[in-house]
Amino acid sequence: MKLVFSLLFLLLLSLLSSSFHSAVARGGERSFNSSGSFRLSRRLSAESYIDKLNRLADGYMSNSELEEAFSAFAHRCSNISRIYSIGESVNGLPLWVVEISDKPGVEEAEPAFKFVGNVHGDEPVGRELMLLLANWLCDNYHIDPLATLIIDNVHLHILPSMNPDGFELRRRGNANNIDLNRDFPDQLFPINDDVDARQPETQAIMRWLKDIQFTASASLHGGALVANYPWDGTPDKRKSYYGCPDDETFRFLASVYSRSHYNMSRSTEFVGGITNGAFWYPVYGGMQDWNYIHAGCFELTLEISDDKWPPSNELHTLWEYNKMSMLNIVASMVKTGVHGRIFSADCGKPLPASVIIKGINYSIQATESFANYHRLLAPDNKYEVVAEMPGYKSKSTHIILGEDATTVDFILEPDLSSKSKISRRGCDFRYDTERKLKMVQILPGPKLELYLIFTLIIMFLFFLFKRRVIVNYLNHRRNTTPKRSIVV
Ligand SMILES: *[C@@H]1O[C@H](CO)[C@@H](O)[C@H](O)[C@H]1NC(C)=O
Ligand SMILES: *[C@@H]1O[C@H](CO)[C@@H](O)[C@H](O)[C@H]1NC(C)=O
Ligand SMILES: [Zn+2]
Repeated sequence: MKLVFSLLFLLLLSLLSSSFHSAVARGGERSFNSSGSFRLSRRLSAESYIDKLNRLADGYMSNSELEEAFSAFAHRCSNISRIYSIGESVNGLPLWVVEISDKPGVEEAEPAFKFVGNVHGDEPVGRELMLLLANWLCDNYHIDPLATLIIDNVHLHILPSMNPDGFELRRRGNANNIDLNRDFPDQLFPINDDVDARQPETQAIMRWLKDIQFTASASLHGGALVANYPWDGTPDKRKSYYGCPDDETFRFLASVYSRSHYNMSRSTEFVGGITNGAFWYPVYGGMQDWNYIHAGCFELTLEISDDKWPPSNELHTLWEYNKMSMLNIVASMVKTGVHGRIFSADCGKPLPASVIIKGINYSIQATESFANYHRLLAPDNKYEVVAEMPGYKSKSTHIILGEDATTVDFILEPDLSSKSKISRRGCDFRYDTERKLKMVQILPGPKLELYLIFTLIIMFLFFLFKRRVIVNYLNHRRNTTPKRSIVV
């Protein structure tokens, strides 16, 4: 009997352990793992788990200390940074971002990259490394070539904590206990489609991506050591490899991270230290896929330490292990891929055209103001790059992409066929003054009514002029007479 009870107890424990372990990383139905039972003894109840995290929080920045670190950084490195908030958490904490660039807050024809840390409240390594990264870049500008390359050529935005409430509560979810990495609209299932039900942290990220066009990004997690790439979910909810159109590109980007890491690429669990999300375990409503589908942003989900919440004395080592990966993934925004600008042939204005790679069912947009585009691609391959814009003839070119970045500018000829005439932007168009556009368009208008109105105005002016002449003449006459006689 005793044996049966012990067996039941063990079964219960292993079930508990598996549910705990499934929450280790991105979450979900992660299968049993050799280390699962090992960690069990320390996680018998949720309370002791929180106690343990409270103890471990020693040496980690609290939310107010994070804010202080931000202002200290802003003060020290104001020449290369700008601090802003993208919104507030459920409990009203600002979601602080630091932008690092030689021209922070100024739009330039450069790619933008973002790091998002602490998506899960109990995975705080990322938020610490983010501040270390920012300070390292500041200290090494004009000293280290990689720091200088990044600051001069990329706009790097760092959000150390997407979930400050969850951090405070020592738990995965936010203050409403919602897993933020399951709160985004999903491509396969109609979950999270209710805008009002979405968490403020999620909404803040979605607004952010409308404001800024990011080329790529990475969110930082803990509980495993792997670079995870889209798709995260499968249509049949089964665990299997489900690649997105840019599978090759993503495998390359994930490898940039894992190969630059101290030992991520030597993983025995993941070949090369990278994994397709759905192949690991399917996740729905994640941030990564949403970025790629809705924001043209190539996002990776990085699991940067086996231990979700390691003792703070390990943070420096973890920084050393991840430092080159973080720098190289940001630098790959300019060191690899195809980049360029798109102009119109008739007057040379920038065109926010689409850039498509033949054979890859995905398009990225050149920016509205400078028409610069940054198309990340796996190196050592041939590609056909196409630029498309309504009202213009598409253009394509064949390139052989090596290890280094290639520049391809496009000059598109207006398509004068009547069908697309309407959508074509005239040369008089200026993105800074829309009012000017209307005025300039009215004047050369060949319409009869316009001439009529014009003639009427001339006649009216002429009439006014004549009247003024008469009045002046009369006044003149009056002025010659004594003042009293004015009263007529
Ligand atoms: C990487 O190194 C750390 C620290 O030495 C170790 O704990 C971990 O198991 C290693 N992981 C791999 C995949 O080699
Ligand atoms: C291309 O992707 C879109 C979704 O973005 C999909 O609707 C369409 O069917 C795809 N086309 C091909 C040829 O796969
Ligand atoms: Zn996580």
